[in-house]
Amino acid sequence: MNVPLLDLVAQYSAIKNDVLPALQAVIDSQQFIMGPAVAQLEVAVAQLSHARHGIGCASGTDALLLPLKALQLRPGDEVITTPFTFFATAGAIHNAGATPVFVDIDSETFNIDPAAVEAALTPRTRAILPVHLYGQMAAIERVAAIARKHSVPVIEDAAQAIGARRSIDGEWRMAGELGWATGYSFFPSKNLGAWGDGGMIVTSDDQAAERLRKLRLHGGAKQYHHDEIGTNSRLDTVQAAILLAKLPHLAAWSARRRDHAARYTAALSAVAAVTPPVVEPNNEHIFHQYTIRVERRDELQAHLKAKGIGSAVYYPVPLHLQNCFSHLGYKGGRLPAAERAAREVLSLPIYPELAPAQQDYVIDGIRGFYR
Ligand SMILES: Cc1ncc(COP(=O)(O)O)c(C=O)c1O
Repeated sequence: MNVPLLDLVAQYSAIKNDVLPALQAVIDSQQFIMGPAVAQLEVAVAQLSHARHGIGCASGTDALLLPLKALQLRPGDEVITTPFTFFATAGAIHNAGATPVFVDIDSETFNIDPAAVEAALTPRTRAILPVHLYGQMAAIERVAAIARKHSVPVIEDAAQAIGARRSIDGEWRMAGELGWATGYSFFPSKNLGAWGDGGMIVTSDDQAAERLRKLRLHGGAKQYHHDEIGTNSRLDTVQAAILLAKLPHLAAWSARRRDHAARYTAALSAVAAVTPPVVEPNNEHIFHQYTIRVERRDELQAHLKAKGIGSAVYYPVPLHLQNCFSHLGYKGGRLPAAERAAREVLSLPIYPELAPAQQDYVIDGIRGFYR
């Protein structure tokens, strides 16, 4: 049997009849730049996030870079973030002109540790950038409280967490609701994936929204009039139309991922060498990834590969130890929870269309390895 890490062809066959007419409509209109589907998707994603504005852009990377640029950061300015994330999180901070300050993660959830954020604040801190890793929200209310106390904005990296929510004081709060600005990615493998690159920022700050709309269009609201220097970072109409057609399926897809996760966890809890992911009781996880901690990780991955089972290590090198950040002076051992996670994590197939027999095959593969 073959169980890929992700099977987008299975998703495509299930939704082909929704997506192709939407795509055809864009082709018929020939409105490829800022066509009506872009604004429609912006409204829908903002609503989903309990935010006032959505601003489509070219990628999840730009959905972080543009809000950071809006802060007009200067050399020496610091942005506190997690080292256990995709590179774009910290790359955006550097490319916006600031210095990433990496703090350790909570070893159960893999998300940024709010106490470590507080300890890293300095007079140069200009923003805090938590990531909702693998589809589970970080302790956003604690990060937001620290940020409020020190008057710095929070930018949520929700690239992996569209539709995730967290119960705070008895109320469900969405990813994208409590931060000053939030970045989403529509990279094809995401829970809501385009057929190419795409991203979106959501915010409830009216002025920031206006500014971000300009920044993605070379800094001008009116064509050929530029108030500041922005860039070209639009979401293609074609991608927006595809995403709009997929959006009604998102909640059911994420629910199926949660069902798969519960099944994996029930089966793998009995394997001593495996630690299934910890879901905080007040979080509704969307399981962009189902990520276990294991002993002898690389050997297990090779064993699964030999059996035709896909898996991945997100992420093998924490960002504070990447060569490109060596000038920042972090040494191994400085952020031990992130470094340990990088050695132990393995993500398993969890896409919605995964069949029970395929999942059993993955479970048997893991059990067989540790027997
Ligand atoms: C946590 C995180 N941040 C940022 C990004 C960047 O998104 P994109 O690949 O759409 O630029 C991604 C996805 O790839 C991600 O997983």
